[in-house]
Order: sequence, then structure tokens, then C-alpha cells
Amino acid sequence: MPREYESTSLRDLLCGSISEAHVGQRLSVCGWVAKRREHGEHLAFLDIRDRSGVVQAVVEGSVDVKSEYVVRVTGTVTPRPEGTVNVKLSTGAVELSDCEVEVLSLADVPPFQLDDRVEIDEQVRLRYRYLDIRRDAMQENLRLRAKVNTALRRAMDAQGFCEVETPLLWAPTPEGAREFVVPSRLNPGEFYVLPQSPQIAKQLLMVGGFDRYYQIARCLRDEDLRADRQFEFTQLDIEASFVSQDDVMGFVSEAVLDAAEVATGVRPGEIETMTWAHALENYGTDKPDLRFDMTLQDLSNVFATTEVKAFAAPTVKALRVAGGASFSRSKLDELTEQAKGLGAKGLAWFRVSEDGLDSPLARFLSSDETAAIAGLDGAGSGDLILAVADEHDVACHVLGAIRVTLGSPPVGDGPYRYVWVTEFPMFEGVDEDGNLQAAHHPFTMPHPEDLALIETDPLNVRSQAYDLVLNGWELGSGSVRIHRADIQSRIFRALGISDEEAEIRFGFLLGAFRYGAPPHAGFAFGIDRLVAIFAGEDNIREVIAFPKTQSGADLMTGAPKSITERQLRDLRVRIDLKGK
Ligand code: AMO
Repeated sequence: MPREYESTSLRDLLCGSISEAHVGQRLSVCGWVAKRREHGEHLAFLDIRDRSGVVQAVVEGSVDVKSEYVVRVTGTVTPRPEGTVNVKLSTGAVELSDCEVEVLSLADVPPFQLDDRVEIDEQVRLRYRYLDIRRDAMQENLRLRAKVNTALRRAMDAQGFCEVETPLLWAPTPEGAREFVVPSRLNPGEFYVLPQSPQIAKQLLMVGGFDRYYQIARCLRDEDLRADRQFEFTQLDIEASFVSQDDVMGFVSEAVLDAAEVATGVRPGEIETMTWAHALENYGTDKPDLRFDMTLQDLSNVFATTEVKAFAAPTVKALRVAGGASFSRSKLDELTEQAKGLGAKGLAWFRVSEDGLDSPLARFLSSDETAAIAGLDGAGSGDLILAVADEHDVACHVLGAIRVTLGSPPVGDGPYRYVWVTEFPMFEGVDEDGNLQAAHHPFTMPHPEDLALIETDPLNVRSQAYDLVLNGWELGSGSVRIHRADIQSRIFRALGISDEEAEIRFGFLLGAFRYGAPPHAGFAFGIDRLVAIFAGEDNIREVIAFPKTQSGADLMTGAPKSITERQLRDLRVRIDLKGK
């Protein structure tokens, strides 16, 4: 970084910038005392740390500073004496000598050592997050995130997109997650909703003629938290007019590949594409992790007329686990429990050995069935074959999940394998009232070849929805939107939404569409997820400055908290904890 950006009224350079090039200069640095070592009674070595790194200051005479005091040190840059050079430190060839130390701020003893090599309980880290983010690992993660954001903005600007900010106080949207609500003081009994995403706002921007919109948008969803989910998260959200699915996938690929290049130093090649049906058939999921093979094999034909009850099902899927014959019985029981927990009736296993198949089921199989299992995917002695027989989707999903359990490296481990998954189904099953459920959202355009099936065979209608997947995580999703009132009505009808209800729920959008809606399509991906993977972290908390715990608490501020009686009165809100 050029020196003029580093120098301020209090300092000349950042600690980490000091090098042999400055030998002989008298310079001031500011930072925290990272470490203090005594050398006899009248000589102390202080490591001074700021965001750029650490520099050693040699202080003669007595100096009253402790760990994490904030100091300004003025000293002369001097080569370190022979034998004391620290090659692990960027400033390790020099030190500041003949130092004056000015204490700018005192510090209590920190609750944990700010050293990446020390394992710290996460609850403590989150309680003292302001200290936790002083550590190198967190500094690197959050700076990486800033770099990714800059790259994304640059990529979108370069492609002619205009950044527009959309409201945080909004009306309910039909995206499925539970919403956070905000009581309105001026309209007692009425509520705003925090947006799950800017979905409707960005479609209105298309009606408004913006042509290409993007936003680094905060989204809020009151859903169960997991490694890849927080209440608040950030999307790169885009929408464009007069475009096809391929155009949108092109815009997003460009942004993601630019971000990857900035984050990892390597620009990945073109992103591959596979259909949803292919992903389900071969990987048992719509989020295929392509870093390892272990694809699902289909044995439905072989077992079509089977005598074995356990295999009498519409679909039989099997998986070869190389070297898995050595799995203990308890490990096999664990996998069976996992399969049952996911809805399968059981999990069949076969150890492949020189003598054939070893399994409680082996003696019931016909010779063709035995041969199909023993020869699966080039199986050899020492391998294990796992199989699930069930309805098609159950067999695929269960074995897909077991594939991930047995094969997936941590999500942040390279190589990075991006894949576009296309042609998602339009509907996924039915709700309790027997109404079809939208797989993406009700504004997604069906595949043009399947329009005629909306009323006759809805579960086989493909949509123009697409996901981007990285290392088995869903990075983002998007779709071509419906801009024609007739198709929209047919979809609402298929979803069991009456014209009246549609008017109440989405009236303002449908109203806007009556004034000239351009064909449009869009996409949004989770920046938290992308950065976590680039940072090699398997939980997005590690790339968020102030995240919530699994139970939704902010341990630092204590939120969520009660508010005063006065505030409740102003909002006309009464608390009723009966039965809680
Ligand atoms: P979707 O709901 O699939 O699509 O969200 C897009 C992406 O946002 C990220 N994401 C999350 N990240 C962290 N915590 C969460 N709770 C969370 N929920 C979602 C994921 C996800 O893939 N409006 C549509 C997009 C569109 O059609 O344009 C939408 O929001 O990475």
C-alpha cells in the first residue's frame, strides 16, 4: 500500500509495512501491544500489532504497558542483530530501537489470548467478538469478504448493472421462509416485514425500466440456523430485462469467476451445467458435490422382477464405496440409521470379497442380481456396495445423503467445483390442503415446452429456474420470471391461489405488470457462503463480523432483549407469555 494512505496525524506507517528500506528513519507506529518480553530489568521487547501485522519495538528503561494496551511508538528503524532475524515475520529483519512509548489507551486483561494457535471456545469468542476480530484469522476472513464484495461490484458495473437500494421495511413476500415483523407505531396493529430478499422490489425495478439492476442486499429470514444459514445474510441480487436464462447465467458466472480470481488467485474455467434430473439421478441431490466421484448407479431394471422383498420397489439405487468392506458392523448400523432417519425403509449393504458378496441378503439374490451388485461401477474385492430400494425420489435422496456423509471433504477444501443446475421442476409435491407447492417461487416461468402440462401433468412441468452450486453448497438460485398475466393466472390456479387471494397478496406486483412488464429474469447468491468457502471455513459465522449463535442469540449485545413498557405501549403491543 502506498505510504501516503498509511500515514495519519498519529503515525507514519502501518506496523507491517516497516522494512529494511526504512533503516535509519525515525518513524511512529500505532497499535496494540501483542506481546511483551523482558530482557533483564531495563530492556523490554514489545510486539506492536495493527491490521497490517506486527513490528518489534525495543524499549530501554521502564515502560508501563501491558498486553492489548493501545500505544504510539516512535523509534528508529534498525536492522536486527545477527541471529535474531525472524523469517516468519514480514518485518522480521528490522526492529524499532531507541523508542518512546506513549500510552493511548489502557486495557484490562483480555478474556482469551489473541493468538490464532490457541483454540478458544466459540461462545467466548462471540461474547467478546470485538476482541475475536482482532485476531489474524478473523481479520483475514473479513478483509477477504470486502475484497469479494469489491470484485462483485466491479463485475456488475462492468456489465452495465445499476446498483439500487431497496427498502428494509417491506410487505410480506411469497418466498416461503418465516418473516421477521416490525410493529408500526404510527399504524397501531399493523406491521412491516423485513425482506426475505428484494425479489418483488427488483421485479418492479424492471417494470420501472432499469433494465439491469444489482444490489449487495441484506436479507432476513426467521428460519432454523445451520452452518450455512443465519437470520441475516447478504446476497448479490440481480435482475435484468430482455434476457434469457443463459444471459443471466453468463452475468452471474462472470461475477463469481472474478470474485474467485480475486480471492484465490486463480480464475476457474467455464462453469459446467447439468440438469436437475441428471443431478438427482447421479448424485441424489440438487446440490451435487463434484469434488469426488461415487455416483449413484441405477439397478431398478435388474431388480424389476426380484423375489427379494427388500428390493421390491420402483427404484433401486446403489453406491460403491471403495475400500468400504472394512467398515465395522456399528458403522454400517449407523449408516442404516441415517438412511431410516431420511425416510428409507432400510439400507442394504454388501461387502465384496474374493469369495463373492458378504451380506445378510446375499443368499436371497438371483445370480443376475448378485452379478450386478458385485460388478457395480468396477467394484472389486475390499469394496462395499450400499443400496436403497424405494420410491424414486426417496431412493435418490437417501443414497445421495449417504454419499455426502462418506465422501464429502469439508466444504472449504479445494478444488472448487462449480456447477449450474438447470431445469428444476416447477412444482414440488403438495401441501396439507392438497395444493401444489412452487419449487422456486410462483413467479417462475415454466419451461416453454411444458406449458401445456400445467393443468394435466403439473409435477412433470420443468421450470426455467437454475441454481449455482459450489462444493455441495447451494450458492444461489434464480429464474426467468413470468411477465404474462395469462400464464401467471394458470400458475396461481395450479397452486390453489384464487384470483382474489393473489390480488390481496401480490396485488401491487400484478398491478404493476398491467403497465408494461418487460420479459425479465434474475438470480441471487449468498455472499456469506461464497466467502466462507474461499476462506476454507465450514460455517458462515466465520466470515460475518457479528453473527448470531445457533439459537439466534447475539452473545455480545444480549439481543434479542425485552424492551421497556413505554416502548411496548407506544407500539400498542402486549406481551403474552402464557404457555411458553
Ligand atoms: P433463495 O431463497 O434461493 O433465492 O436465496 C438465494 C441464496 O441466498 C442464500 N441464502 C442464505 N444464506 C445464508 N443464510 C440464509 N438463511 C440464507 N437463505 C438463503 C443462499 C441462497 O442460495 N429471490 C430469490 C432469488 C431470485 O430468484 O432471484 C432468492 O432469494 O446462498
